Amino acid sequence: MFGLGDGVIGSPQAFGALQSRFESESPSQSAACDRVDMDDAIDRISVERTYDVIRAHIRKTPVFDLNGVTLKLEQLQHGGSFKARGVLANLLLRDVPDAGIVAASGGNHGVATAWAAMMRGVPATIFLPTVSSPAKIARIRKYGATLVIGGDRYGDALDASREWSAGHEAMEVHAYDHPLTLLGQGSLALELAEQAPDLDTLLVAVGGGGLIGGLAAYYEGCVRVVGVEPEGAPTLTDALRAGRPVDSRADSIASDALAPRRVGELMFPIAQRYIDTVLVTDDAIRAAQAWLWDNACVVTEPAGATGYAALLSGAYRPAADERVGVVISGANTTAVDFTRPVG
Ligand SMILES: Cc1ncc(COP(=O)(O)O)c(C=O)c1O
Repeated sequence: MFGLGDGVIGSPQAFGALQSRFESESPSQSAACDRVDMDDAIDRISVERTYDVIRAHIRKTPVFDLNGVTLKLEQLQHGGSFKARGVLANLLLRDVPDAGIVAASGGNHGVATAWAAMMRGVPATIFLPTVSSPAKIARIRKYGATLVIGGDRYGDALDASREWSAGHEAMEVHAYDHPLTLLGQGSLALELAEQAPDLDTLLVAVGGGGLIGGLAAYYEGCVRVVGVEPEGAPTLTDALRAGRPVDSRADSIASDALAPRRVGELMFPIAQRYIDTVLVTDDAIRAAQAWLWDNACVVTEPAGATGYAALLSGAYRPAADERVGVVISGANTTAVDFTRPVG
């Protein structure tokens, strides 16, 4: 594991060293492809195989006990969210063309895609909606990807990226609805199962469902997996009620992360089998962000605090002896700005 991170990216020399280590540690494409087939089921064994391939390049993020609740601090992942896991699974297990890769994203998947492309030395084109946080846009620019911003929401960015892809050879890296994206995200559960083996319940924010789908696929019902959604973007709740992914509203404080039009087709059968959902208000998400900062100096973006908001607001009430974990999924936010003249 190269163990260094965003802090050294500003230095071209340091970056060059990192990049060559990345390349030298990468398994060969063909060896890797033998291990995880795109037709493989999205289940624990495939998550384990995927982890074997990506583990040298991601951070094993720590867990932290906060008043009896296990927090998985995934905002410490490369690029500031869990998304690096799924992107790396795609980059290491598929044949990447010389034209590079293309991704549509609310923001964090774009950050992770730009980061991974930089590390592999391939070009990346990222489509974002205007709702994306300036913090995410700045990071994508820092990693050197080509950026196209337009449309209100993730769905608009996805449409624009597909239109662009029709005339280009670049490989699409889907933010949530590709088997390798789900398997990569599922590796977070593999780490957590070792770090916190006695968990009863895990609270996870839901957007397109790649994260929660991967985690639930890994746990296979051993841990109760609860999806937490903003009231203004209840994509999985609506899908479970309808019996299939359906279009939902996409209007919340976390719209740059938890607001695709609908959840992915691949995660849906996993959700029907293993996942319940609860809804939280935007005020509850804001309160959770403030609480995590005030009580633990944990920085989160709105989506990153959404799982915790369910606990703090009482939307999810654990039993007295229930051991609960929460994924702190990301922290790309303008709340942290060291260019401001403050102490
Ligand atoms: C910080 C953060 N948390 C959670 C999610 C939800 O992930 P998924 O779309 O895989 O459900 C996202 C998606 O962008 C995110 O950026």
